[in-house]
Amino acid sequence: MIVAIDGPAGSGKGTITKIISQRMGLVNLDTGATYRCVALASIRKGLKIEEEQKIVDLIDELDISFEHENGEIKVFLNGEDVSKQIRSTEVNSIVSQISSIIPVRLKMVELQRRLADGKDVIMEGRDICTYVFPNADVKIYLDANEKERAQRRYKENQEKGIDCTYEEVLDNIRKRDENDKNKEIGALKVADGATIIDSTDMTIQEVADEIEKIIKMVK
Ligand code: DC
Repeated sequence: MIVAIDGPAGSGKGTITKIISQRMGLVNLDTGATYRCVALASIRKGLKIEEEQKIVDLIDELDISFEHENGEIKVFLNGEDVSKQIRSTEVNSIVSQISSIIPVRLKMVELQRRLADGKDVIMEGRDICTYVFPNADVKIYLDANEKERAQRRYKENQEKGIDCTYEEVLDNIRKRDENDKNKEIGALKVADGATIIDSTDMTIQEVADEIEKIIKMVK
């Protein structure tokens, strides 16, 4: 069983995926976190975004894995829990560009398919319905307007103690949207057969209930 959810930054994919995975016993695979790990590792190595080949080579040294603990997903990079570090402003500012490097995408997609192999999963990202699993059992495109998405991300960052202003978050979301929608491979778009849900004026529970209903129809 593969449930695939795509959508822009701040559309609620992460929160919804977590809720549905707990309610329905599906393994939660956060594909954005895999790109975030590559971005974090590149920053730590002092690599510049232009040094594409070095970034691609660096991936072979990375062991990325997920652990589920009390409903929380922890992201591990070479054995270190980097769940918080991968959400930093520095990572946010380069991750979309990192994810535009084609050989990086090819390697990450391979990893994402491997992580899902033989499991009942719910996966969220940008290209899950269009590219990673075009034959997913359920395909959802989750959206919300840009100001609402920035507001959600800003609040989330504050709760996590990540230092930033609302304007910075909005600016970052705009830049990422632009970049994510114009990628050569795996661009963010609505897949054939996907159900579009606009969460701007919906509560998290309402979105989760709607998606649960859709999953139950195919189960
Ligand atoms: O969902 P997120 O904000 O954690 O994603 C981080 C970045 O990774 C985002 O700018 C787009 C990219 N990404 C991608 O290109 N493909 C995916 N399947 C998931 C994320």
